[in-house]
Amino acid sequence: MAEGVGVTVALLEQSLTDGVIRVRRLEPRDAAAFVDGTADAQVRQFAHLPGDEYTEQIFLERLRGVIADGLRDGNLAVLAVCDATTDEFLGSITLFDVDYTRGRAETGFWVTSASRGRSAAVRAVQLVAWWAARLGIVKLIARADATNRPSCVVLERAESTLAEGPAEQTAPSGRTFTGLTDSRPSGPTQ
Ligand SMILES: CC(C)(COP(=O)(O)OP(=O)(O)OC[C@H]1O[C@@H](n2cnc3c(N)ncnc32)[C@H](O)[C@@H]1OP(=O)(O)O)[C@@H](O)C(=O)NCCC(=O)NCCS
Repeated sequence: MAEGVGVTVALLEQSLTDGVIRVRRLEPRDAAAFVDGTADAQVRQFAHLPGDEYTEQIFLERLRGVIADGLRDGNLAVLAVCDATTDEFLGSITLFDVDYTRGRAETGFWVTSASRGRSAAVRAVQLVAWWAARLGIVKLIARADATNRPSCVVLERAESTLAEGPAEQTAPSGRTFTGLTDSRPSGPTQ
């Protein structure tokens, strides 16, 4: 388990909400929407998911395997972004490379094509940054492909500050891309 601020925690046992969206643990009921979302061309190009292709069976295996392990061990949180009122699945946000010793972690996110343009990703990054701060993460990293304008817009709106780049980077998927690295103090912004 993770060592948070002096306490031992499993990641995100309670959901996060700003009243508009909710960030919560993924559930088996998200399988169809998650798989559908990962088939989107922009998600495939820019989200750098670890798997090339997702089926509902692969999703459920990962949910019971690597995703459950990461939440329990406190080093990886692959989460759902949902409408706070209806629980409609809007996308996914991940906290990974969690390093409690150095107080840093990285986040990545994607939103389903039908749910874009309503600031769901900005809200999710802000909620995860606030939550990460409570875990002792003082530096939250996000890497955006320099050609991915929507992602750069999200990071600007989430009040990131460009830390480095553009530079050749290696994504969690192992693919290389030219990217900008943004980082922000992970505390509340107001
Ligand atoms: C990047 C992404 C998460 C943005 O999510 P979002 O919740 O739609 O973000 P916002 O609503 O804040 O919109 C941000 C920008 O996205 C673009 N956008 C908005 N609606 C869009 C749509 N329907 N289709 C494509 N792009 C859209 C616009 O450039 C918008 O900026 P604007 O408001 O100045 O026009 C989403 O486009 C996505 O999932 N892309 C594929 C995966 C990805 O790039 N992940 C980021 C890796 S770091």
